Amino acid sequence: MQMAVVPGLRVFALIAALLLMAGCQPTVNFTGARVSADQPLPLAKPEPPLVPAKPSAVRGAKVFEAQCAICHGPQGKGDGPAGSGLTTPGRDVIVDFLAIFGIKHEIEKLPSRPANFHVVEQQRLNHPYMNWETVSQGRPYTAMPAFGPKVGYGANKAQTLSDQERWDLVFHEWQWATTPERLARAKEIYETRGIDGQTCAACHGTAGDGKGPKGAEMAGRLWMWKAGRGPGVFTDFNYLVQRKPSQIFQVIKEGSLNRLMPAYGKKLTEDEMWMLVEYAYTFIYEPRPK
Ligand code: HEC
Ligand code: HEC
Repeated sequence: MQMAVVPGLRVFALIAALLLMAGCQPTVNFTGARVSADQPLPLAKPEPPLVPAKPSAVRGAKVFEAQCAICHGPQGKGDGPAGSGLTTPGRDVIVDFLAIFGIKHEIEKLPSRPANFHVVEQQRLNHPYMNWETVSQGRPYTAMPAFGPKVGYGANKAQTLSDQERWDLVFHEWQWATTPERLARAKEIYETRGIDGQTCAACHGTAGDGKGPKGAEMAGRLWMWKAGRGPGVFTDFNYLVQRKPSQIFQVIKEGSLNRLMPAYGKKLTEDEMWMLVEYAYTFIYEPRPK
């Protein structure tokens, strides 16, 4: 009798404890996730724009020549006069940690090669905002200095650049992963090729603002589209700078998850789809004519 009661009590105590713990968990309301497509999410406040004015690759080219060409080379191929001799500052997390206790520890300085912006395979994995952060904060433990807003790691005050200048630079470099010819070809595909007459421009608009002939229908189904923000509205700077070319390529190839955007993988070649990716970003910056 005794033996049977004790485990019973244990089980009871265990269940009681589990219930108590469950009660202490933050509740997740799954029904809340089912928002109507027309209703903005409560969190969606308009964000302040990340950039003062539309970035210009032409303006960026001038700053690049003055500040970056010495390492990255005049054409951004990573072959500037200072490029080949660069080494890391001989610091790492352990060196920094030991320095807190006044212990000086030396490590080997390794070669640090400036990025070549023509290596498209690498550039397609970065989104513009990542590059902006690298230019702003530098890249610790490499020779890449910080250019502002704070005078940071490896940089001096004379090097500090404004937000606008750093965005101009990012898109000047961005354009090295494409050519004006590819952009012109992409514009043509964007406006003329489609599936059952559904060109990109039919939904996304010639200006990339989502105001094509089918744009109103899309706006009726996607509140973000209606608000001029979010997926598919290429004039939304804050959104697009945080999308990687590789992610955008995927959507063009396979269509969107909600099936509102058709899959173009069977209609266009891989290269044509990459051209469209490169073209999509031109709605948020001013490319160089050549
Ligand atoms: C002192 C030399 C030096 C100067 C000057 C310099 N860079 Fe760099 N930069 C580097 C090095 C080295 C790297 C590679 C860092 C690494 O190994 O990750 C790099 C990497 C970068 C990257 C990251 C690219 C990627 O694919 O991840 C960007 C963006 C960049 N530089 C932009 C600039 C811009 C813009 C300027 C001018 C304002 C500039 N750099 C000036 C040395 C330099
Ligand atoms: C029938 C309308 C329609 C057509 C035609 C269309 N799209 Fe879309 N597109 C959409 C919708 C809707 C979304 C938003 C999907 C979502 O909510 O995830 C979208 C999203 C996108 C995105 C955003 C991807 C992301 O995740 O950030 C890109 C890029 C894009 N479309 C490119 C294109 C290109 C290029 C073409 C032509 C080859 C095209 N679209 C044709 C409706 C369309």
